Amino acid sequence: MTDPFADIQEILFTEEQITGRVRELAAAISRDYAGRAPLLVSVLKGAVYFLTDLTRALAVPVEIDFMAITTYGSAKAQSGVVRLIKDLDVEITGRDVVLVEDIIDTGLTAGYLLRLLQARAPASLRICTLLDRPYRRILETLDIAYRGFEVPDRFLVGYGLDYRERYRHLPFIGVLKNEVLAAGAPAAPPTARDAASPSAAGPPDAGAAEP
Ligand code: IMP
Ligand code: MG
Repeated sequence: MTDPFADIQEILFTEEQITGRVRELAAAISRDYAGRAPLLVSVLKGAVYFLTDLTRALAVPVEIDFMAITTYGSAKAQSGVVRLIKDLDVEITGRDVVLVEDIIDTGLTAGYLLRLLQARAPASLRICTLLDRPYRRILETLDIAYRGFEVPDRFLVGYGLDYRERYRHLPFIGVLKNEVLAAGAPAAPPTARDAASPSAAGPPDAGAAEP
């Protein structure tokens, strides 16, 4: 585990590909929000890498703010019920809000956050996610305004995505080697969702700091 690069089976998106796509998303957001100053809201910690690059490529004035959540055990995780452990610092009533996500899988987490934010009566509310697994969606009504890449059902790390809090800092997005996942969860190589859930990732506090 000394060389995080050695644990990667395959690079899915290089640093250059990510940069290019992030710029395209930023251009689209800049066009749509011309003359406005949107508030970009993210959940700690996975989306932080994407958020900071995205905002640096925007041509509109922008503010950022963060929430932190914790998921409950694996059974309840499927219900999308999460507990807010850090709320936004600012009021969003009347603001143009963009929820920035690293990856949307079942959509349950994003759905929960959307309901929470919508209740505060923002002027507008949209989702921007770097990665998407639409075929994994449970919450089928989720409307995604900005999407970077559609990704396969393999466990991904890098550019903010973690496995047990590791690998976030990798500049690319890659598939983690099966033996690394197997070493963490002896039963069987998990699907992306299994490995992302706290139950499969070890003790409750090992991966429960965010969805
Ligand atoms: P969902 O959309 O509620 O199912 O959950 C999405 C969350 O699961 C993301 O914010 C990630 O924290 C986590 N996640 C899903 N797939 C992956 C993956 O491939 N690697 C790392 N984390 C993942
Ligand atoms: Mg995570």
